[in-house]
Amino acid sequence: MTKNPLVDLHGRPHTYLRISLTERCNLRCTYCMPAEGVQLSPKDHIMKTHEILDIARTFVDLGVTKIRLTGGEPLVRKNIDTILRQLAQLPVELSLTTNAVLLDRYLPLLKELGIRNLNISLDHLDRERFHKITLRDDYEKVISNILTAEQDEFFTVKVNAVLIQGTNDDEVNAFVRWTKELNLHVRFIEFMPFDGNNWDLSKLVSYEDILQKIHSEWSSDAILRIEDRPNDTSRNYKIKGYKGTFAIISTVTRPFCSTCNRIRLTANGKVKNCLFSGSETDLLTPLRNGQDLQPIIRQTILDKHAVRGGLDDKQFKDPGEHHNRSMILIGG
Ligand code: 5AD
Ligand code: SF4
Repeated sequence: MTKNPLVDLHGRPHTYLRISLTERCNLRCTYCMPAEGVQLSPKDHIMKTHEILDIARTFVDLGVTKIRLTGGEPLVRKNIDTILRQLAQLPVELSLTTNAVLLDRYLPLLKELGIRNLNISLDHLDRERFHKITLRDDYEKVISNILTAEQDEFFTVKVNAVLIQGTNDDEVNAFVRWTKELNLHVRFIEFMPFDGNNWDLSKLVSYEDILQKIHSEWSSDAILRIEDRPNDTSRNYKIKGYKGTFAIISTVTRPFCSTCNRIRLTANGKVKNCLFSGSETDLLTPLRNGQDLQPIIRQTILDKHAVRGGLDDKQFKDPGEHHNRSMILIGG
C-alpha cells in the first residue's frame, strides 16, 4: 500500500478505478444512450493506449488496487487486446463490464490474463423486449455468451439489470428463477437519472418494490440475506438451494456513498470523483503537457462530496437540476 493513499475529506480511501475505454457502443439501450445520439469526442481527445497505461500506473502509485474497464462497450475499442494485456501487468484486480455481444471472442484472452470478474448488462429475458430496449438483434448471442462464461468455473459472472417501471419490472422473478440452475449473480439496479435518459421518479422500481415482488413467489424462509463485503454497492441475497444469487443496487432510494471507494476516468481522460459529479478534472491535457498528475488527482479526491456529487435528495430527483453526462459517456 502507498504511503499516502487517496483518502478524501470524509475518510474514504479511494482504491477502485473505473476506466471507460470508449464512448461507442454496439447496442443502443434507450436509458443509457439518448435517442438523439451523443456528440462523440474528437478522436484525438480520446486517450490512446499508452496514455491509458500511464494514467492507470499513476493511480496504482496512489494506492488503487482494483480497475474495472467500462465503456460505452469496452470490447468495441480498437486495440482492446493490447490494452487488456498491458493493464493485466499492473498489480491490480482487473475486471470488465460488458454487454456480452462480443464476449465469446475474448473469453480465452480474459482467461489467459486472469480476468475473472465479468459484469454483464442484460435487462430482459425476452427477445422482443431485448430488441426494443437495445434496438439491436443480439439477444441469442448475448444469452449464449452469458451461458458460456457461466459454464466456465474460472469466471464469476454478474448480470446487471436496470429495472424500469412498465418495461421490465415484471421480469424480476424470472431473473431470480434463472439463478436456480445457473451460478449467476443477478443484480437489480434502480434506474438512475442521467442526461437525456428521460428519467422520472414514476419509472423507478425501488428496493422495496423489488423485494416485494420476490416475496410474492418465495417464502421469507427461502429468501436468504448474504453478508455484503466492505465496499459493496449491492445488498445481496439468494434463494435457499439455488446455485446463484441476486442483489439490489439502490442508488436512488438508499445510497451507499459512505463506503464509496470509486473514481471514474472517462474515455476522454477526465476524472469524475462521483458518478453524479457535475464537474470533471482533465488529466489527459496535463499528461500530454508532461505535468505531474498526482497532485491534480489528489485535489479531485479532496473535492469529492459526501453523497451523490453534492446533490440533495430533491435536486437528485429533479433531472433539471443535474449537470452531468449521459451514461454512455460515463461508463457506469
Ligand atoms: N440507471 C442505472 N444503471 C444504468 N446503467 C446504465 N444507465 C443506467 C441508469 N440510468 C448501467 C448499465 C450497466 C452499468 C454499467 O450501468 O446497465 O449495467
Ligand atoms: Fe460514490 Fe457518488 Fe455513487 Fe455515492 S453516488 S456511491 S459518492 S459514486
